[in-house]
Amino acid sequence: MQNFTFCNPTKLIFGRGMIASLADEIPQGSRVLVTFGGGSVRRNGVYDQVSAALTGIDHVEFWGIESNPKVETLRRAVELGKRKKVNFILAVGGGSVLDGSKLIACALFDRETRDPWEIVRTRRPRGAIPYASVMTLPATGSEMNAYSVVSSLELEEKLSFTLPDFPRFSILDPDCCRSLPPAQVAASLADITAHVLEQYMTSPGQSRPMDRWAEGLLLTVIDIAPMLVEGRADDAALADYMLTATLALNNMIAMGVSEDWATHSIGHELTAFTGMAHGATLAIFYPALLRVMIDEKEAKLVQFGERVFGITEGTTRERALAAVGRLEDFFASLGLPTRLAEAGIGEEVDRRIAERFRERGWKLGENRTILPDDVARILAAARPAKH
Ligand code: NZQ
Ligand code: ZN
Repeated sequence: MQNFTFCNPTKLIFGRGMIASLADEIPQGSRVLVTFGGGSVRRNGVYDQVSAALTGIDHVEFWGIESNPKVETLRRAVELGKRKKVNFILAVGGGSVLDGSKLIACALFDRETRDPWEIVRTRRPRGAIPYASVMTLPATGSEMNAYSVVSSLELEEKLSFTLPDFPRFSILDPDCCRSLPPAQVAASLADITAHVLEQYMTSPGQSRPMDRWAEGLLLTVIDIAPMLVEGRADDAALADYMLTATLALNNMIAMGVSEDWATHSIGHELTAFTGMAHGATLAIFYPALLRVMIDEKEAKLVQFGERVFGITEGTTRERALAAVGRLEDFFASLGLPTRLAEAGIGEEVDRRIAERFRERGWKLGENRTILPDDVARILAAARPAKH
């Protein structure tokens, strides 16, 4: 195990009716910018609960932070925040609303008038004003981490950066999940799975507790996925869904172990060029990446195959490939395309993504061994329709 420092100061407030506790959590005297997406919270009752809880608290609303939040929208929120001299941000919605709000928090902290995109591009926020969330979509883990992913429409770019500060608190009421459309549930399950894999599918033997935690989260997702996809999840399954998403990316399973994140980097480019939902991009690229990088991934794939899918027969290579096959089948069982052709993505997009990695010269993966030519091979492996 490598040396590490772990600190996750986000206060997690979990369960039915807990949105009402908002008023106790926001510091007295705050001027709050409350941020929202496109309106799902008006339809599922979350907005009414938040409004009731904010009675008597000085606040202003900003609506319209879209999926894969765009800097073009966030600039307007920053202007509003400056004009109203807000000193606290409350994001109400999915990962996009919260990620966008994280950038707003950084831009409002910045005393120099940098354009918000400069914060994203340089990946160097100097700080952030305090922010918190009511998270309505279990997927990103953004509610308990310091990461943000923001896009630029103008530049067709999607980049991630890390904040110096975590959310002050996040309120998670599993009842919020009841209104999620099936496509969003499927994408979120793929995202949660991929988050665990990015921190687990690396060199074996680094940490027993991290491996077992990661495998526990993967087994949980596989267990509850059919109920969620078929719309028959009970209260317990919804609570497990929401908490698993948070635990998958709150740094808990990354203590002292290496991480990969190559699949996410490639997936972000597909979203930047096509707008595809984030989780859906991962269902396409994860199996392809594991097949292309099989030499590096083989040992951990065998462990994953045995402990998560019960694969015990065959040579090492056969078992590793069978594990990739089961993972791809799992993504397909969610109703997601697992190939670019199945998703209706034209080959021109593959060329643009490959070119972008060539231009950047990025070395990806746990060992920085995934070079631009490997990205092109991953794109090729992800292309042909399976069915
Ligand atoms: O905008 P509204 O009307 O609120 O609707 C949203 C949106 O259309 C809807 N939705 C959210 N909660 C709902 C709901 N609909 C009904 N009932 C509810 N309870 O769902 C749609 C998608 O929302 P979005 O926030 O875009 O989804 P998600 O939470 O998956 O966030 C995706 C973004 O997060 C980034 C992704 O790249 C993408 O930009 N990620 C952030 C990470 C992080 N901060 O740590 C890590 C991830 O790997 C990921 O990259
Ligand atoms: Zn993700």
